This record gives sequence, structure tokens and C-alpha cells, in this order.
Amino acid sequence: MKIAVIGAGAMGSLFGAYLAGGGHQVALVDVWREHVEMINKQGLRIEEKSGEKIVSLTAEKDTRNLGAQDLVIIFVKSYNTADAVNTARNLFTESTVILTLQNGLGNAEIIADTVRNATVLAGTTAHGATVLGPGYIRHAGVGETIIGIYKGAGDRRVHDIADTFTNCGIKTRVVDDIASQLWGKLLINIGINPLTALLNVTNGRLVEYDATCALMQMLVSEGEAVARAGGINIPYADVLEKVKQVAVATGTNRSSMLQDLDKGGRTEIDFINGAVVREGAKLGISTPYNEMVTQLIKAVEAIREFNVNNKQ
Ligand code: PAF
Repeated sequence: MKIAVIGAGAMGSLFGAYLAGGGHQVALVDVWREHVEMINKQGLRIEEKSGEKIVSLTAEKDTRNLGAQDLVIIFVKSYNTADAVNTARNLFTESTVILTLQNGLGNAEIIADTVRNATVLAGTTAHGATVLGPGYIRHAGVGETIIGIYKGAGDRRVHDIADTFTNCGIKTRVVDDIASQLWGKLLINIGINPLTALLNVTNGRLVEYDATCALMQMLVSEGEAVARAGGINIPYADVLEKVKQVAVATGTNRSSMLQDLDKGGRTEIDFINGAVVREGAKLGISTPYNEMVTQLIKAVEAIREFNVNNKQ
């Protein structure tokens, strides 16, 4: 299969490497020049629990040198989805499948609106990965990947893609109701990401204090109310308990939002807690705690940007 991965941060690089390792023709696409150059020079270095390995694969700064692909996997930050898909138009034919495995809500909609005739799949992954340097990642945790059809006639192909992933070492399952899974992951992210980012702690610390557990509960119960009002079938019996379990299971991780702030970059808050606020407003459900953390994260981003621009 010809596969392009747009957005070769930790997770995009990891998926690309596993698929290339399984014999597929994979190209990673990322704007980080040093990362691209290092991958082309020495391959992608992956620190696994079992030891280190190097996977050789191609990386590009943009899609100009690439032709039509069978599968395009989108891993860019949510706020870059529309731009990334627009500039990758040369990769798409009528038979190309586009799969988003990004964090947050709204990416599949953006892709489907941008590439009108495409078959769009969406999914979640519980793998954990961190960038250690250019061309160098750590595979921090193994977990299940779940995919489903968002738009288009992809029934056979969604199963082919799941089988391809599984055969390459990325255990993947197909579900009919992908919205349920996307919301399930969103509820985890709204409880963990802003709190770890604001408090500068690893995920596991959130379950250690009554105050952090109370904050998680406030955020998650609002999200749960919005999901239920929107007719979403939440995939967990006890949502707060599930969020706590994930925080413990990924205990030593710095969440993606904390990593974004560490890098002095923008976060995906608008697609995580901000998405709950927007969906809540549409349904007449008020979400003051999610609104508060959304504004707090935006304030941190703005102050950092100001400090960088003014060298403070
Ligand atoms: O965004 C993240 O960091 C991850 O989705 C999660 C599950 C919170 C683990 O760190």
C-alpha cells in the first residue's frame, strides 16, 4: 500500500515506522526540517521498551514529490487540519482513503468539507509516544487503535486498513459507531490535558490529590452531559473512573497539551475543552468549567507568546 502520513510528530512517526516495517511504501510529511533530514539520513530511531531500533523510511517537508496515495493518515495538530489537507491535494484520487487519528473533535468534519468526494475514516489510538529529538522518538505505551467510517463508501476498505495495521503490529479494531469512540477519547482528554498543562504535572499525578480529582470530575461531568444530550452512546459505564484509569495507565506521560506548552507552542484546547463548550452551546447545556479552562490555557498561550516576542 502507498501510505502518506501528514504530521510526523511522535505518533505520526510511530505509525509510519510500523507500516514501513510491515513492507508498505510509506512517506512521512512534516514541516520540521531537522526531523525530516535526520530521518532521510539515518532512518527513524525508536526507543521501545524492549530496546532501540532504527526503521528506514522516506520523509518530506511537503507533498510536492509524492504522487497519489492509497491511504493518507492525518496526524497534524487539529488547528492545522484544513491547511494540511488543502496542501496535500495532489495525494488524493477518488480511491484514496483519508484517516484522521488526531486528538479532539471536528477533524473528520474539516477533512470531509475540504476534500468533498473523499472516503474519510476517523479513529482513536491509545499508543503513547514522545519526540526525543529530530529523527528520534520514544514508544512509551502500547494500546488499541479503533477506526470507523466517518463518510463515504468505505466498508470493505476500513476492514482492509484495520487488517493492514494489525499485521504491521498496530492492533486495530473496526467499530460501526465511530462518534461514540471519538467522544470517549474526548472525555478522557478534557479531564487530563488542560489540568496537566495548567499544573505542569504528569498524567498520574492528577489522581493523587482530592483537589485535582474534583477538578477532573467537574470537567468530565459537563462533557458527559453534553455528549448524552447530543445522543452520543458513551463507551464507558463510569466516565470519571475511565479517565482516572487512563491517567494512571499513562502515569509518567506528559500529556500532549503539556508538551505543546513545554515547546512554547499552541495547544489543541479549541478542539478539546473548547469543543465541549461549542457543542454544549448548540444543545443549550452550560459548560462553565470547560469554558474556564479553555480561557486559562489561551491565557497561558498568549502570555508565553508575548514573553517570546518581547524576550522576557
Ligand atoms: O493527549 C494525550 O496526551 C493523550 O491523549 C492522553 C490519553 C491524555 C495520554 O497522555
